Amino acid sequence: MDTRPIGIFDSGVGGLTVVREVIKAMPLEDTIYFGDTARVPYGSKSKETVTDFSRQIMRFLISKNVKAIIIACNTVSSNCYNILKSEFDIPIIEVVNPGVESCLKVTKSNRVGVIGTATTIKSHAYEERLKEQRNNIVVFQKPCPLFVPLAEEGFTENDIAKLTAATYLKELKDKNIDSLILGCTHYPLLKKTIGEYMGMDVKIVDPAAETAHKMKDFLTSQNMEGDKNPGKHVFYCSDNCSQFNEICSKNLGIECHVHKVDIEKY
Ligand code: DGL
Repeated sequence: MDTRPIGIFDSGVGGLTVVREVIKAMPLEDTIYFGDTARVPYGSKSKETVTDFSRQIMRFLISKNVKAIIIACNTVSSNCYNILKSEFDIPIIEVVNPGVESCLKVTKSNRVGVIGTATTIKSHAYEERLKEQRNNIVVFQKPCPLFVPLAEEGFTENDIAKLTAATYLKELKDKNIDSLILGCTHYPLLKKTIGEYMGMDVKIVDPAAETAHKMKDFLTSQNMEGDKNPGKHVFYCSDNCSQFNEICSKNLGIECHVHKVDIEKY
């Protein structure tokens, strides 16, 4: 048993979609979440900048005595996972492999779409790993950067969200795909809008549940499970805490008290 919390981070509110699944899969675990709301979006920044930001967040979470960390951000997972893994002596679970595994379970036609931030799509992490696992798979990628500020603003089902989805996703809809990976943790907040536009025949793949199960399996295999009943969830962000608080409470259905942290100090 290990009663220390699990650390989880993202550039903003997106990683809360992973927290939701973590709470569902592991109700007895405490979590500490950090959303980098002062520096969001990550998806338009370089790999070097995102790596530097991630190092600060890793140091912050480790200072809070976490037992393991979930990178609840595809941009960081696809660009910085190997670097962070080599630099930090703590178990790390990322989101790309769980997304790939979930997609391979549902695709029948092997024609799949991947949407994510520009920096995630540019890394080709999803495409490469999908093809490593199944060589006849055909992958269509599309960056959808505006989905991130829409999710941060809470504009997830209104006309602006619908028009943005139609503009970005038209070319994927024309490709006759049978599944679409939401390769950005902000995108599940727009799942209804994205799903409605793509239609019933396209399965929407959210890596979050599989990611939570990966962490659960890891903790179980190492005898590191928590035993809090129920687990406590603490949230930090780097700016605009009240807006974060609102989205956090709405999406998790729990009262969240968000603390501000000066992440540049770490
Ligand atoms: N939610 C993040 C991801 O999964 C990053 C979005 C952003 O900050 O651009 O990639």
